[in-house]
Amino acid sequence: MRVSLPLLDSRQATPLEALTGPPEAFRHAPLPTLVDRKGRSISYARLSVTDRCDLRCTYCMPEGGEEEHETQSGLLSATELGRLIRLLAKMGVRRFRLTGGEPLVRKDILELVCAAGEVTEPRGLALAMTTNATRLASFASKFAAAGLGSVNISLDSIDAERFREITRGGSLEKVMLGIDAALAAGLEVKLNSVLLPENLAEVPALVAFAWDRGITPRFIERMPLGLDTEAAPVSMANALAVLGDAFGGLNEPDAHHGPARYVANERGQRIGFITPITEEFCGTCNRLRISSKGDLRACLAWRNATNLRDAMRRGADDHELAWGILQALAQKRDGHAFLDQSEHEHRNVGMSLIGG
Ligand code: GTP
Ligand code: 5AD
Ligand code: SF4
Repeated sequence: MRVSLPLLDSRQATPLEALTGPPEAFRHAPLPTLVDRKGRSISYARLSVTDRCDLRCTYCMPEGGEEEHETQSGLLSATELGRLIRLLAKMGVRRFRLTGGEPLVRKDILELVCAAGEVTEPRGLALAMTTNATRLASFASKFAAAGLGSVNISLDSIDAERFREITRGGSLEKVMLGIDAALAAGLEVKLNSVLLPENLAEVPALVAFAWDRGITPRFIERMPLGLDTEAAPVSMANALAVLGDAFGGLNEPDAHHGPARYVANERGQRIGFITPITEEFCGTCNRLRISSKGDLRACLAWRNATNLRDAMRRGADDHELAWGILQALAQKRDGHAFLDQSEHEHRNVGMSLIGG
């Protein structure tokens, strides 16, 4: 049976000071590693740097964009981002991903990547970014130099007109320049396409496009977040059916550790699938996320959050922050419940506000 936690408004987070502070013994102990209530170890953090985006993808945002945005001064600064990454690294996180909104709409994005890279690079930790690549062309090589290792690029169509429709006005040409620049800078590149009725027939073309460039394509089942949509109308099985044997035999999807599972052809070229709807992966979830205003969420699908920004700004030390993070993880649910029609919590939380 699902335990029902009190509903929080999506724009409110529990202030850290509302939680009982750490006991004295905790304050003097080494920082603990992050393990949730179900024994899942947290080794991956997604840090959103902005809740704004320069595109308006139909499945992600209302036509006029989200109603409310955090003010500039409310966003985590480069110093705060670096501090959180350093703290999480001490607690066992090995992989960090910067997300948005669209991270590159932040004017100080290079400063943020530098602050993150200064922590991850010397420790051999992975630093990645998820971006729509519209502004990547002029940044890719600077990001690589600052310690970014890989980018996941969101691209739902390689047909300029369809891309414009899905993104409500985006320029495919700019994204192409971004992809070229990322490859030229030596970044590892993966493509993310959300499966939609509009692009299902394009799945083979997206695979060919990616493989031609040595990129791994991935297809994502749409989650019913934010907009008043039902669960994904297009599944991994639908995509595999469209692929047929266009690329020769594909092996069975690999074992499932984390969101993406991969099939490969005999040449080792891979296609990834992220299947939150038809095959949930919550049992092996290894992640937490922090929004651009410092809300720590233990799970993408639920609104419960603990605000770390305010705690940092009022002078909390690392043990106090660590305690708050552990308390939030203690509330992490077993899974997302996207298919539970009586569950409305997901509907009010736009993906761009959380960071995916
Ligand atoms: P890799 O580390 O490269 O595998 O990246 P990723 O797939 O974890 O991150 P990315 O930002 O590329 O996200 C791809 C899709 O997976 C997006 O639709 C995300 O919302 C979704 N996703 C990422 N993490 C989770 C998660 O923990 N739960 C669920 N349900 N979806 C997730
Ligand atoms: N379901 C699945 N993926 C989504 N994305 C945005 N909204 C959704 C959704 N409702 C994708 C973006 C991007 C990644 C961060 O999340 O297209 O690739
Ligand atoms: Fe983890 Fe929640 Fe995503 Fe499931 S939906 S994988 S529990 S973050």
